[in-house]
Amino acid sequence: MPVHCRYSRSIRSHRLNRRLLQQRCDTLLRLLERRTATVSVVFIGDDEMASYNKQYRNKQGPTNVLSFPVIADTTNGFPHPENELGDILISVDTARRESMEQKCGLHHRLTDLIIHGMLHLIGYDHERSESEAELMWNYERQLFQQIQTTRSSSMPFLAINVDHVATIRQARGGVEPDPVLAASLCELAGADGIVVHLREDRRHIQDRDVRLLRQTVKTRLNLEMANVPEIIDLALEVKPDMITLVPEKREELTTEGGLDVLANAKDISRTIARMQEAGIPVSIFIDPDATQVQAALDAGATYVELHTGNYCDARTPEEQEQQYTLIEQVAELAYESGLKVNAGHGLDYRNVHPIAALPFIDELSIGHAVISRAVLVGMENAVREMLTIVRSM
Ligand code: PXP
Repeated sequence: MPVHCRYSRSIRSHRLNRRLLQQRCDTLLRLLERRTATVSVVFIGDDEMASYNKQYRNKQGPTNVLSFPVIADTTNGFPHPENELGDILISVDTARRESMEQKCGLHHRLTDLIIHGMLHLIGYDHERSESEAELMWNYERQLFQQIQTTRSSSMPFLAINVDHVATIRQARGGVEPDPVLAASLCELAGADGIVVHLREDRRHIQDRDVRLLRQTVKTRLNLEMANVPEIIDLALEVKPDMITLVPEKREELTTEGGLDVLANAKDISRTIARMQEAGIPVSIFIDPDATQVQAALDAGATYVELHTGNYCDARTPEEQEQQYTLIEQVAELAYESGLKVNAGHGLDYRNVHPIAALPFIDELSIGHAVISRAVLVGMENAVREMLTIVRSM
């Protein structure tokens, strides 16, 4: 392994995704065209960093990153270790503080520091001149973007929401097209799960669909539902593989926003406890908002599904970037709190790629875009095309 990542015992309290960090380091070496080089990256705490900072730079207190390039020692007759770049020390405590100041995730900040440290190892130095500082800064940003869009941990699962197959059926009140058959085609094309929303007004999916899907879905059946007694009873009877609690308004065209977990904490906790007793994991559909993540955690949820609607509906690139950053930060926060993270709403063939590249997302839930495309190219083609994008990281 060209990059040896090591972790000090003093940083055990930080929930680090070691696999992700290792893969980001490896990707970085590849981008720098140093595949055969070896580097040691050591993640430590502030106390250790302060002592190295004093010893090697005669400076008080911790810093975020220190790089020690290998220097050829010709006096002892040993050859220069050509492939060895050196060591990078990173204080996770400092990175955590900086991530809070910069309003980004901890792993985002750690990635910045790994890139910075690595560029120092290969000879860049921002302290030499202003022009070199600018060159280094621009290169760092470019590398970060390349790493971020190279999803290096496992790909997200793709779950297809087949509600709108039922919408077409209900338009004539007959039996076709059948969402149960559509779900099987999605699975044949490689979808990892099937999602349906059994609404109180039964505008698309019917009870019969949910019962049949329970018998036919071979991947995972996720039942979206409002937290109301009638649907809770049905979920407990049918036992889907998981449920997702969503807000529901009769007059809305589709789910309009995340569930306010804070305002409904008691009812949600009660439902989660009942589902847990029945062995059904619960996800809560929330806006990308840190307080909702904490409330979902307190209520006992296993997953949160982050609402991607504002990102998808953004009217300018700046607004989309802002919404994307919010999803990235909150996904990381939720992951670090111990929740599993799904995302969905409004995702389509054009906007899904950056969301699929986020490392902390377990599953994407996509309906309208895939069903719309299926009308033109067939269900299996539509699912395969989406899978190609989601898995093209
Ligand atoms: N996730 C949730 C919670 C939803 O309510 C919906 C819409 O039913 C989706 C994902 C899928 O959204 P879209 O149909 O826009 O892909």
